[in-house]
Parts: sequence; structure tokens; C-alpha cells
Amino acid sequence: MEYVDIMLKISIIPENLEFDIDYRENILSAGLNQNLNLPHGCKSGNCGACKCKVQSGDIDLDEYNKNVLKDEEIEQGYTLLCKAHAKTDVVLYIPHFLHGFPIKMLPARVEKIKKINTTAIITLKIPAIQQFGFYAGQYIDIMHKGKNRSYSLAGNPNKNDELELHVRYYNKGIFSEFVWNELKEQQILRFKGPLGNFRLQETENPIILICTGTGFAPIKSIIESIISNSINKELHLYWGNRTKEDFYLLELLPQWQKQLNLRITLCVSKENMDGYKSGYVTHELDKDFSDLKKYEVYACGNIKMIEDVYELAVNKLNLAKKNFFSDAFIPSSE
Ligand code: FES
Repeated sequence: MEYVDIMLKISIIPENLEFDIDYRENILSAGLNQNLNLPHGCKSGNCGACKCKVQSGDIDLDEYNKNVLKDEEIEQGYTLLCKAHAKTDVVLYIPHFLHGFPIKMLPARVEKIKKINTTAIITLKIPAIQQFGFYAGQYIDIMHKGKNRSYSLAGNPNKNDELELHVRYYNKGIFSEFVWNELKEQQILRFKGPLGNFRLQETENPIILICTGTGFAPIKSIIESIISNSINKELHLYWGNRTKEDFYLLELLPQWQKQLNLRITLCVSKENMDGYKSGYVTHELDKDFSDLKKYEVYACGNIKMIEDVYELAVNKLNLAKKNFFSDAFIPSSE
């Protein structure tokens, strides 16, 4: 059977949305091209953020990382949208599917670039005539030299004419070299967004926020939205970096603690420093909690950390799978 010329239909429940696709395109890119904010992260079968259940229909899967989609999950009907090609009409069950804010392609002016050790904090200004909204935790794609670079939005979503990005310096990373050596204030960048389904849930549950590196960006956005919406709940923040120099905006932490019921643990994995825990965030989480049944966990950053936290929280500490939310950062060297 030749699939390529047949137009098929993807339906998403419980939202009852539909879009067309042909076999050549994977389901994720077909949805994104039609401005549907399907859940995703790496787009390469490595993070599991696009995992969802196929309610009906047949698909083929391209190669993917077997750690993020186990054979037994395939038997239960799960798939990775970024690697799935529809062979028939398909119905997907995506309970947290977000289509609240339209995905837009917009210009933005670089208002400010502040470099703190290994991280650049970029403030972008959106033209006053444009409406742009996002949920704390979402990200945008910056267009640069014909490619997209994904960066989480770090600012308060209630202040949406201004966007904040945190860019970590990577030696020979094309976008970070560009930020460090060429990007100037007042320059115009183009971006697409908001993207992603990583976001704060509207529940009463206490929260554990756990991040590495610039995975702090969406966590900062979540915390600022909790403050500005006067949400009062138990919060725990774990932030890990290789060295003390990789931390930034530390001055915010005591301010947040004055406003919130927030406990903070900072970890360095490559050195011993007073005031910091030595080792990984996962170890500290394991030491601090024996049961996470009543919690939600939001993990953002390095994919290995996310896998380890999931394993620990869900398989050892009784966290409900539905209460684990993650956004994996896959560094791009290009
Ligand atoms: S596994 Fe599909 S977006 Fe990461």
C-alpha cells in the first residue's frame, strides 16, 4: 500500500480538534505546522515529552530512544508524536493539550543583554501592536541562520510585552557564540511561539521544582506567576549546576523566600562549596522525601536528570505519573 498520497485525519480528544496529514510527515511536525501546540521537547525521540496514547488508528514509528518509550508502553498504545507517521486516520488522547494561546511568528527587539558568568539573560520587547500571551513554563523558537533554537520563557507571563531568555554559553555553539560575540541591544530577532505543554497545573498540590543549568528559566517563570497570582502552597526548589559560576540571578532566591513558602536547595556536582550541596539534585530529593504521593514534580533541564528524577519520584517515591511534568533541554551545537 502507498501511504504517501493519501490525506489522513488526526483527531485529538478530549478537545475534539482535527488536522490533516500525509504519511511523509510525522504527526508532531504536521500539527505544529498547522499551529497546534502539540506537546513536545527535543523533536528527536529522546525526551518523551511528546508521548501520548493512540486511541485508534495505525502508525509507523521511526527510530527513537528506547529509554523514553518502552516496549510495554507501545503495547499499551503509547507513541512518540515526533517519530510517528499515520497509516490510517488516527485518534490521539492528549488530556493536557493546550491551545490557549495562538502560536505566532513575531519580531522582537533586543532590549537588554546581561551576561552573568556562563549565562546571558536576554530581554526582548514585542511590538506594542502585537498581542502575545504564554503560560509559565512554555518556550519559543528563535529563528537564526535558517534554524530554530528553543528557549524557555523565563519572565512573568503577566508581563507579556517583554520576554526573558536565559542562554548558556557553549564553546562553538553557533547560537551562544552569536549571542556572546555579535548580538547587540536594539537588534531584531524573529521568534515563533508560545510552544510546549510544560506548565503549572491549577491544583492545590504542593510542588517540587527541580532543574539543572538554564532549566532554571521556566522554573523562574512558574515561581513568578505563583507570586503574582498570590498562590499559597508548599514549594521546594532544587537547582543543580556543575560549578558555582553556573548559577545566576541568585539574588532572587531570598526575595522569593520572603514571599512564598519556599525551601531552596542548590547543588554543585563538580566542586565542594560552602552553602551548596555537593552532588546531584536527584540525591538531595531522595534524601529529603520518602513519599511524594501528594506532590507534583516539575523537572526541567538535562535529559539524564529528568530520567533519573522520574525513576526516583515515580518508581521509588510513589509520585503519580500524571503529576510528573518535564521539559528536557537538548543542547544544540549548531
Ligand atoms: S521524544 Fe518527541 S519531542 Fe522529545
